[in-house]
Amino acid sequence: MRITKERLLIVLIIATLSVALINRAFPHDPKHVFPGMKSQVVADLIYSVIEADRTLYSRHVVDRMQDTGTVIASENWTHRNALPLPAQMLLMAGKRVENKGLGLEYRLASLWPIYKKNGPISDFERKGLLAVQQHPEKPFSAIVKRGKQQHFQAIYSDKAVSKACVDCHNSHVLSPKRDYRLNDVMGGVIISFRLE
Ligand code: HEC
Repeated sequence: MRITKERLLIVLIIATLSVALINRAFPHDPKHVFPGMKSQVVADLIYSVIEADRTLYSRHVVDRMQDTGTVIASENWTHRNALPLPAQMLLMAGKRVENKGLGLEYRLASLWPIYKKNGPISDFERKGLLAVQQHPEKPFSAIVKRGKQQHFQAIYSDKAVSKACVDCHNSHVLSPKRDYRLNDVMGGVIISFRLE
């Protein structure tokens, strides 16, 4: 079979179309952790687990144990007969996940943190915590560079869902903000994972 210009052109068109189709089915774009799954969806899935654990631990363990007079939750739980605070539970779980070395990290942060370590550590975090303050229902997310690596970061609002949140933060000696009210956004859950 002779190689004519027309045949060459047809082969070229078929090859280009095939590459385009394969790329569409299995995107290499760093925005995608799994082929076909957007990073925002991955972050939403991770957040749904964190949020369920945080809410259920607060409601069914801490509130219930305190209401029935069984045991209290206290910041100094390691030194006394007490449960860890919900914030401490989330932060401990986040550290445990981080230590697995999978490139996944999460923590609880605020623009008015009781401890400075829980404040924003980048411009992105400062902007994001402010954004979820104004639009609590909308996570704030972007791809951020850390050295040579790209990470997907998403911030979800953390609200004062009970009076206990407000009372404790308004009266804590180290709290820089003392006028929280019920349903205020007190901070955010920051999720970050490596892209590649
Ligand atoms: C009995 C006190 C107490 C209660 C109740 C409490 N917190 Fe906290 N919260 C703390 C302490 C202490 C920390 C810091 C924990 C650490 O870093 O070890 C903290 C941390 C946080 C942070 C991270 C920023 C910071 O201030 O350091 C957020 C956001 C937060 N809490 C929101 C809430 C919400 C929302 C509730 C209710 C669902 C709540 N807290 C209930 C004491 C409390």
